[in-house]
Amino acid sequence: MHFHIMTLFPEMVLEGLHTSIIGRAQERGIISIDAENIRDYTLDKHKKVDDYTYGGGAGMLMQAQPVYDCWKHIEEKIFMHRASLGKCATFTTNHEEAHKVRVIYVTPQGEVFKQKKAAQLAKEEDLIFLCGHYEGIDERVLEEIVTDYISLGDYVLTGGELAAMVMIDAIARLVPGVLNNGDSAATESHANGLLEYPQYSRPEVWHGKGVPEVLLSGHHANIEKWRWEQSLERTKQRRPDLYEAYIVKEQDQD
Ligand code: ADE
Repeated sequence: MHFHIMTLFPEMVLEGLHTSIIGRAQERGIISIDAENIRDYTLDKHKKVDDYTYGGGAGMLMQAQPVYDCWKHIEEKIFMHRASLGKCATFTTNHEEAHKVRVIYVTPQGEVFKQKKAAQLAKEEDLIFLCGHYEGIDERVLEEIVTDYISLGDYVLTGGELAAMVMIDAIARLVPGVLNNGDSAATESHANGLLEYPQYSRPEVWHGKGVPEVLLSGHHANIEKWRWEQSLERTKQRRPDLYEAYIVKEQDQD
């Protein structure tokens, strides 16, 4: 899986994604993460990438030209790479055809990012993330290149970089081979619509608190049952919205 990030702050995203599990996955060649500086594509002699908004209003808007040219460069790179592997014949600047590579605009105006979306996106070969700044991006270029509008949540960040980093982390860890223990992604919170059960490690007693007896019993069926009940209870307490949705889904299946 190859992640391509269009940003005004390439060092921010690359620095943030080069450590720990995601860093190791890159070293092992399972994923790659590249960042392209949108500013490198401006035709403005002062390297400007933003301008005032038509119709007035606060703040500056990122202009269409540098964003479009940056995207074109990335698309070209992807298609060249695929062609070198014999996967596609020619590069095309035709928007309809070029849209085979998904372009995610991270924006508070998008659909809220969930685990299900992360799992779906983890199946792609390439993903392009577009990070906005200032008051946003000229609508005309968005119409031409963006396939998915995705938000991190109902709040506004100063730019798309942190949101893109969060999404890339969540997607990358679902790419086969990135996590050492393939099982952990299947049982963790949100994998089945519920939060994960509480967990304990050594010592058996800490600050006077013991580990629940059942976990020391070695009785696997009882442990599974306890975990299931805990998972349900925890979801009900902490995320009643998820609990309700889960119960409705279960009833529909009956
Ligand atoms: N950019 C600014 N705010 C954002 C958010 N909530 N999600 C994604 N991108 C953003």
